Amino acid sequence: MLAILNGKVLPVEEAMVPATDVGLLRGDGVFEVIRVYSGVPFALEQHFDRMEQSAKKLMIEFDRAAIERDTAELLAADPEHDGCMRLVSTGSGTRFAALEALPPIPPSVRLTTLTYHSTILLDGIKSLSYAANMLATRIAVDRGAGESLLVTESGTVLEGPRQSFVCSLDGKRLITPPLADRVLDSITRRTLIATGMVDEQSIHVDQLPEVKEAFLASTLREVHPASAIDDLELEAPGPLSQQVDVLLRAAIAEAVGGSA
Ligand SMILES: Cc1ncc(COP(=O)(O)O)c(C=O)c1O
Repeated sequence: MLAILNGKVLPVEEAMVPATDVGLLRGDGVFEVIRVYSGVPFALEQHFDRMEQSAKKLMIEFDRAAIERDTAELLAADPEHDGCMRLVSTGSGTRFAALEALPPIPPSVRLTTLTYHSTILLDGIKSLSYAANMLATRIAVDRGAGESLLVTESGTVLEGPRQSFVCSLDGKRLITPPLADRVLDSITRRTLIATGMVDEQSIHVDQLPEVKEAFLASTLREVHPASAIDDLELEAPGPLSQQVDVLLRAAIAEAVGGSA
């Protein structure tokens, strides 16, 4: 697979960043992961916008024009790439983008609730400081689940460590926590809300036993049905999840011109 490091296209194995880069030493930097369908990226501008906002909030240097140039050059170097593209920009000024294969994704995922307290300074920032998110997944696996469902100390349901959370409490409407609950402004979440099938509504952990169906949503997973939340077993996918999955795929196909 190909990558581009500070403007130079090279095989990803040869992409070397100095060990003194603050992205490595401190997790000080920002990133994005973008789906690429037969060479066509989905929602590229939205990803650039979010990355620029993340860098601005983190108060680090960010050269959007250079990152846009790198991305175009990388995609042109592998015009049929089907998978994803990772963009990284660090506080040391390193620019890195790489084409990647999609990770294996099982048909459904068991969720385990995990108490989580976000670092208020990093709210809304897709930063490289993702150790807590990685740990949340390892804790889930250690508990025999596939992913964590993050819940605040006061019981507000948030999201997965790298995914938005969507569920139905009544079997009629799908809901997802509002941004005011301090979840990431996920691009998949935005696309799902735009279908008209998903509303923003806070969810309390005490309501989880009422859940009729649920899924995680992200660029990589799209609609990923949850087969359980703690001890509650769920139909995966549920009927509303299937319907919204069709709408999401149609929205993506329309945006990428039929490449999806
Ligand atoms: C915390 C968190 N929530 C949600 C998402 C899903 O965002 P997107 O749909 O933009 O991939 C991510 C993606 O990495 C994430 O890290």
